Amino acid sequence: MSRLDTRAVHAGRDDLAGLGTHVPPLDLSTTYPVPDLAAGGDAYQALAGGGRPPAEGGLVYQRLWNPTVARFERALAELEGCAEAVAFSSGMAALSACLLATAAAGRRHVVALRPLYGGSDHLLESGLLGTEVTWADPGTLAAALRPDTGLVLVETPGNPTLDLLDLTEIAERCAGVPLLVDNTFATPVLQRPAAFGADLVLHSATKSIGGHGDVLAGAVACTAEWAERLRRVRAVTGAVLHPLAGYLLHRGLQTLPLRVRAASASAALIADRLAGHPGVAAVHYPGRSDSPLLGKQLLGGGSTLAFEAAGGFAHAAAVAERCRLITHAVSLGGVDTLIQHPASLTHRPVAAAHKPSPALLRLSVGLEDPDDLIADLTGALAG
Ligand SMILES: Cc1ncc(COP(=O)(O)O)c(C=O)c1O
Repeated sequence: MSRLDTRAVHAGRDDLAGLGTHVPPLDLSTTYPVPDLAAGGDAYQALAGGGRPPAEGGLVYQRLWNPTVARFERALAELEGCAEAVAFSSGMAALSACLLATAAAGRRHVVALRPLYGGSDHLLESGLLGTEVTWADPGTLAAALRPDTGLVLVETPGNPTLDLLDLTEIAERCAGVPLLVDNTFATPVLQRPAAFGADLVLHSATKSIGGHGDVLAGAVACTAEWAERLRRVRAVTGAVLHPLAGYLLHRGLQTLPLRVRAASASAALIADRLAGHPGVAAVHYPGRSDSPLLGKQLLGGGSTLAFEAAGGFAHAAAVAERCRLITHAVSLGGVDTLIQHPASLTHRPVAAAHKPSPALLRLSVGLEDPDDLIADLTGALAG
C-alpha cells in the first residue's frame, strides 16, 4: 500500500478517471428518482437501516446517502486504517451518534477519561442522551467498567492541556468494551488510534481536516459493523453532513499531511520560545514531553499547544486580547493561528473541580511565519 501522503492525495478518487473527470463531482441532490417502486422500497429499507445502497433502487434521499459525502468517508477511513467512516454535521453530532448507538444496544453506561473537549464533557455529564457517565483515569478504568458499560471514551492529546494516554494500555483495560478515541488533535497524520486498539476514531473535522475555518463537520472511522449502526442513527435523527462540506473536507485531506507537519514545526518552535519567557509559568506541548509514546503512538507534537500566563487569569485574558496577528477565537487546526482561554470558553461547562487553570491559554498554530507569531505573542505577554 502507498504511503500516507500519497493516499491523502488519491484516497476516495480511484474511480474518477473512469468517470472521465479529474475532481470529484459535487452531488447536491436532496432526492433521487425512484426507478421502480419495489427496488426503491428495498433501497429505502436498506439505507434507513444503516446499510449501503443496493445496486438497484437509487439513493432515494440525501439524508440516507450522498455520493460526495461517501467519497470523503472512504478517504478518511483509508487514512485512519479503518474499514469505513461515517460523517456528521459536526463533531458533537458524531459523538451523539456514538452515544445513541451505544444506548440503543441496551448499554447506557459510559466510562470517560478527562480531560476531554468541554462540549464532550458537557454532553456526557448532562445525560441528555440517556447515557450515564463514570469518570475514570487509566488506573481506575478497569474497575469503573460495569456489565452495562457500552463505551470507553478518551482523547489523546487531550483538550486543552495536551495530556497523552497510552492507547495500547487503555485498550487492554477496556476488556472488550468498545474504545472511542477522539483523534481531532493528532489527525491520522500523527496518530492512527485503530492500530493501537481503538474501535471508533472520532474527529471534529471542523478542525485540521477542513483546515480553513469554513466547514463544521464530524466523522467517525470504525468497523463496517459500527458504521452500519452509526449510519442508522444518522439517517433516523438527521445529523447529516452537507455535500458541499463533504467535498471541502475531501479536498482538505489532500493537504492535511503538509499542513499538519508545517504547523507542528512552528508549534514546536513557539513552545520552546514560550518556555524560556519570563511571562510564561508553564508550557504544555507533547513535542516537549519525554513521553515514550512520542515517535511510537504519536508521530509528532502537533499544531496545538497550551501555556500558563505567569500573572494568572488577568494576565492570560490580557494576552489573548492583546494579540494582533493571532485571532482571539475558539477552534483549532486551521491555516491561521488562534488563541483562546479554555476556562472561559471551550471548557466553560466543565465542573469547577475539573476546569482548566484560569491562567491557561490554548494556542492553535497555523501556517504563518513562526517569527511573526512569536513577535505577536511576546508583544502580548509584555503588555
Ligand atoms: C477534541 C474535540 N472533539 C470534538 C469537538 C466538537 O466538534 P464540533 O465543534 O465540530 O462539534 C471539538 C470542538 O472543539 C474538539 O476540540
